Amino acid sequence: MSDFEKQGQRIVFTGGSGVAGRHVIGKLLEYGHEILNIDLHPLDNPDVHTMKADLTDGAQAFNSLSSHFRATEPFLEPIQRLDAVIHFAGTYPNTKRTTAIPRPLIVPDNELYRINTLSSYNIIESACKLGIPKLIIASSITTYGITYAEGDASYAYFPVDENHPTCPMDVYAASKLCVETTAASFARRFPGTDIYILRIGAVITPDRFETAFKLYVEEPEKWKVHGWSYVDARDLGNMCHAGLMTDGLGFQVFNAVNDDITNDEPSEEFLSRVCPRTRLVRPMGTFEAPITNRKMKEMLGFEEEYGWRRVLDK
Ligand SMILES: NC(=O)c1ccc[n+]([C@@H]2O[C@H](COP(=O)([O-])OP(=O)(O)OC[C@H]3O[C@@H](n4cnc5c(N)ncnc54)[C@H](O)[C@@H]3O)[C@@H](O)[C@H]2O)c1
Repeated sequence: MSDFEKQGQRIVFTGGSGVAGRHVIGKLLEYGHEILNIDLHPLDNPDVHTMKADLTDGAQAFNSLSSHFRATEPFLEPIQRLDAVIHFAGTYPNTKRTTAIPRPLIVPDNELYRINTLSSYNIIESACKLGIPKLIIASSITTYGITYAEGDASYAYFPVDENHPTCPMDVYAASKLCVETTAASFARRFPGTDIYILRIGAVITPDRFETAFKLYVEEPEKWKVHGWSYVDARDLGNMCHAGLMTDGLGFQVFNAVNDDITNDEPSEEFLSRVCPRTRLVRPMGTFEAPITNRKMKEMLGFEEEYGWRRVLDK
């Protein structure tokens, strides 16, 4: 595909009605991609059709990836093969977020595990067997084991790159790790398929930007659970686009976070103050995020657009 053709890819996006997905889809539309959203709930975006499907059902997942994008009378063209699937659907245990967007209520652990692993398995298997050349899958920095630990846990080193041990205690992060392992196994069986895992940081949406950064900056000691890192929901769209534009990397895991630490103190000074026993494995950029996006910048050419200092004009 030429770079020009790559701008207008045909993509199924799962979970696009959620908190992050709607902003990611907004950004992907700006790049000219054509999108079908698969979700349990509608998305209030007139440019995107939502097909209601429960992806824990394998047949619904398969059909979601082999469907018309719009219902017209008659259908104007045969079903086209997809260029990529971006899989965000799932659920997680965050009780604190308030949102007007309909989403499943908090569910018991075993149900969370079932939804996340089974829906992902169904999407990965269907995409590989249908010959879709690229999957981008939402995982999480919670796999590093700190966010939902029982009590205080410590990072093994800074900056946290993709080789950092993944050692979750909780079921959400365990489900994401299971999805990563499953995706890697399919990538071995289907070597022509690119599967890019995004270990997503705390997602900050435009409406929560000021509030979130007030907390991050004024009470920095509290945010070890987020690794003093974040991802702007629109930059998450830029990251997905960067993944769509870069072919041939096979199976890869990327930290999906913005460039900078979430407070005003230079990173090395801050980390040596709050985590004095955690070693630095390389010199860090002055304000480099403790969970580093260096691999994504180098391999996908990601450049952030919504760095928090710029957005808040600091
Ligand atoms: N929001 C964050 O801070 C954050 C951080 C790290 C990773 N993630 C991951 O990013 C992805 C998106 O997160 P989000 O905050 O937008 O989540 P969300 O809960 O707001 O959205 C998830 C969407 O998936 C849909 N969904 C759930 N079960 C489904 C099923 N069985 N079939 C079809 N659709 C289903 C929901 O209806 C919802 O619209 C998730 O995989 C999440 O685990 C989010």
